[in-house]
Amino acid sequence: MAQLITNINNTVKYLREGNVVAIPTETVYGLGANIYNEEALLNIFRFKGRPSSNPLIVHTYDIEQALNLYDLTFNPNLEKIIRILGNQFWPGPLTIISKAKSNISKTITAGTGNIAVRIPNNKKSLEILKKLKDIPIAAPSANKSGHISPVDSLHVLSEFKDDNIYVFHSGHIRFFEDKVGIESTVIQIDDNEKNINICRQGGITFDDLDFFVKEKINDYKVIIAPCASSPGQSIKHYAIKDKETIMVDSYKELSLEDLEIKNSALIDFGSLAKVFDGKILYRNLSKRQNIDEAMMNLYDYLREIEGFSNISKVYIIKDSKNYDQKWNGLYDRIFRACSGQYITKN
Ligand code: TXA
Ligand code: MG
Repeated sequence: MAQLITNINNTVKYLREGNVVAIPTETVYGLGANIYNEEALLNIFRFKGRPSSNPLIVHTYDIEQALNLYDLTFNPNLEKIIRILGNQFWPGPLTIISKAKSNISKTITAGTGNIAVRIPNNKKSLEILKKLKDIPIAAPSANKSGHISPVDSLHVLSEFKDDNIYVFHSGHIRFFEDKVGIESTVIQIDDNEKNINICRQGGITFDDLDFFVKEKINDYKVIIAPCASSPGQSIKHYAIKDKETIMVDSYKELSLEDLEIKNSALIDFGSLAKVFDGKILYRNLSKRQNIDEAMMNLYDYLREIEGFSNISKVYIIKDSKNYDQKWNGLYDRIFRACSGQYITKN
């Protein structure tokens, strides 16, 4: 049975002792385990239903603790690069993948030889990590594999209600001082090609990184490409159970006959499909087309709509306008929530 806890010292104690404990971060909740406790790590995979080939992100409270997880011996520049990136973007929604030290469990690296690390930008999680001192925490998003990521401790509680975990109860990420609402941007440092490769887009954008890298690490280039060893990036992800979820370019592509009003939900962005408001189950990611607000609402709405048993189809308006670059991260999640399914009449 999953159990809510509110006491930080108990959270630290349970993690240290090898329990699986969900912790808040500014992006999504993570399902945490002591990186030195093999049984706890294996339980993460078991509870999530996660394939053992999918490596785990490790969370630390400062750069020194993070650097201690990487093998920095084969390239004298690597430490400098991670320090420069870390000083700029940590704590924050940036995960840095590089070669792992040989003592890191293969359960974490999934045998890739690489480790992904980040420092979360959340007071509570930093306090927990600090109190754990010498124990970094491995934490993938606290959802069952392929399901919608959790942005509220209560999402985690219901997701793992039958599993033996603790959930540190800190409520909805919306109310945190620093908040993002979708998972971190993941980069891999490719030492051979001298690339900083964005494998997953998130709150930190290509421009944020490119601008900074051009100035501070100018022999490296920022690119966007899938990471071979990130099997978590599958096309079907963040999916609503038992419903068909489809992107539409604009409400003009839909006629009311397309939508079986009783059985459908529509997630708008701005007022692009306002015509359906009041006619069907209608939600709006952001009335003002604010991407930060939309990121915060996406997973929440997907979960809420999942709870309506009469709904069988969910349409998400995918506007093709060029918004702020943060739209790319949001669009990536919408695309996967829809398994790439798309309606266009052009
Ligand atoms: O914001 C986040 O990153 C959240 C919070 C809890 O920190 N965590 C998260 O973890 O989203 P997860 O496991 O749901 O997504 C991590 C992604 C997966 O696609 C995984 O395959 C990839 O990062 N990844 C982790 N370690 C890796 C490694 N060593 N090499 C390549 N990809 C890795
Ligand atoms: Mg995930």
